[in-house]
Amino acid sequence: MKSVSSILPLILDKVTFEAGGKRLIKEVSCVLEAGPRSVIIGPNGAGKSLLLRLCHGLIEPTGGSVLWSGAGGKDPSLLQAMVFQRPVMLRRSVAANVDYALSLRGLPSDERRERVADVLARTGLRRFADRSARVLSVGEQQKLALARAWALRPQVLFLDEPTASLDPAATLAVEDVIAAIHATGTKIVMTTHDLGQARRVADDVLFLYRGRLFEHSPAGVFFETPRSAEAASFIEGKLFWRHKEIAS
Ligand SMILES: Nc1ncnc2c1ncn2[C@@H]1O[C@H](COP(=O)(O)OP(=O)(O)O)[C@@H](O)[C@H]1O
Ligand SMILES: [Mg+2]
Repeated sequence: MKSVSSILPLILDKVTFEAGGKRLIKEVSCVLEAGPRSVIIGPNGAGKSLLLRLCHGLIEPTGGSVLWSGAGGKDPSLLQAMVFQRPVMLRRSVAANVDYALSLRGLPSDERRERVADVLARTGLRRFADRSARVLSVGEQQKLALARAWALRPQVLFLDEPTASLDPAATLAVEDVIAAIHATGTKIVMTTHDLGQARRVADDVLFLYRGRLFEHSPAGVFFETPRSAEAASFIEGKLFWRHKEIAS
């Protein structure tokens, strides 16, 4: 495949998102570079999913800007993909689910066939190729969702709590697929509320709480010497979104 220059870094400048009269994301500024796996952590309701949707362009900020600074004239939307916590599978075979995603990008059938075979082999789903996607276990469905996104060969893959519905074994299997995708050069930007997962997966950590980005640090620095009291108490398992209201 022809190499394409990177649309990264992704630069967020004072990104704000308001809905229903509330500021849900508050002046988030950060730079996401090509390479390291960036993991957005924070308790439920912190704004992780919203921030990911803002990055991916599914929603528009009400203030500030989201800039793919390497994109030049290219359309960045074709070079990124997203996988959700509960993926929606078409009522078709496993292979057809991947093929359909590729057909939406207008790829010719021989290229599609090659990519479908490739990602199903890499994700361990080849033996399910002709099975209905809807009868797969949730863990297998999540692997299929990753395969479907991987087949697009995105430069950036956004993952929104991809293992939140899975048991520990399925979680590790999905983390293995994420590692394999990263190893092919795709930038991973993932959310999780699971600290153990963040420790396993993250190269850099963005800690979000109540819509604010409290810190963005290399994972080792974040876990050893968090700068904010909020991050320190989250790492100790003491921080909940509403703890202040509950306490008062
Ligand atoms: N479209 C919306 N309108 C109003 N409130 C929303 C909307 N989307 C999300 N929220 C609220 O914003 C907060 C952050 O949500 P979310 O990004 O889903 O958090 P997280 O993914 O960290 O659990 C939550 O309180 C949620 O209820
Ligand atoms: Mg979420």
